[in-house]
Amino acid sequence: MIQIKELSHHFELGKKGQKTILPVLKGITMEVGKGEIVSVVGKSGSGKSTLLNLISGFIRPTEGEIRIDSELVSDLSEAKFADFRLEHIGFIFQSFQLIPSMTAYQNIELPLTLKGEDEKKRKEIVNRILEKVGLEDFQDHYPSELSGGQQQRVSIARALVLEPTLILADEPTGSLDSETEAEILEIIQKLNRELGITFLIITHDEEVAQIGNRTISIKDGRIMEGVTAV
Ligand SMILES: Nc1ncnc2c1ncn2[C@@H]1O[C@H](COP(=O)(O)OP(=O)(O)O)[C@@H](O)[C@H]1O
Ligand SMILES: [Mg+2]
Repeated sequence: MIQIKELSHHFELGKKGQKTILPVLKGITMEVGKGEIVSVVGKSGSGKSTLLNLISGFIRPTEGEIRIDSELVSDLSEAKFADFRLEHIGFIFQSFQLIPSMTAYQNIELPLTLKGEDEKKRKEIVNRILEKVGLEDFQDHYPSELSGGQQQRVSIARALVLEPTLILADEPTGSLDSETEAEILEIIQKLNRELGITFLIITHDEEVAQIGNRTISIKDGRIMEGVTAV
């Protein structure tokens, strides 16, 4: 599903003439197989979010290759990458990133609206997914009227409506208490089992990492070989 070869990334800091280079990822080679849940663990600042942003195409690597579903995405133009993302990838963020002025239903429906699906089809898909994440009774609530766990379920539902084969999650339970965290992790496992969706989950929490079939540890921008994070 994902193949990463010799991936390096640095950020340039400071103004012209006084630039400093901050190397963040240093030769990452890794694979995620179809249908796997893979966790990436590492301390804050180790480069996890940068890795996810590179896989998502939000930033471009300084060096190296990223393939998703055999497509060399690191070579795609910005517009092509945007299309590819819409077709293949769903996202879950620590901060939910819901639109506050829209109800749960409308937030979930939004990707379908943007894609131009008609109302009947949108309704059918949203209702099916509301049930999958157990939110039927909360569809008319605004994000401010939902608990953290419910908001994260809305954001998971939104990630599902375009039927991604891959979901990238950056600290998906980072804003939740431990009980709600367990609920969200269960949903992730269920979606993996029932829909075969591949998950790459970034976390600094070793307990969260345990839901993965495999854990990859990153330290200072490098993969720690032969080290189990847990
Ligand atoms: N856009 C950016 N510009 C400059 N430095 C950045 C940027 N994004 C991240 N960094 C730096 O890269 C390093 C790794 O950050 P990040 O990938 O967010 O780590 P993690 O997610 O593991 O906490 C940090 O030192 C961070 O300050
Ligand atoms: Mg991060």
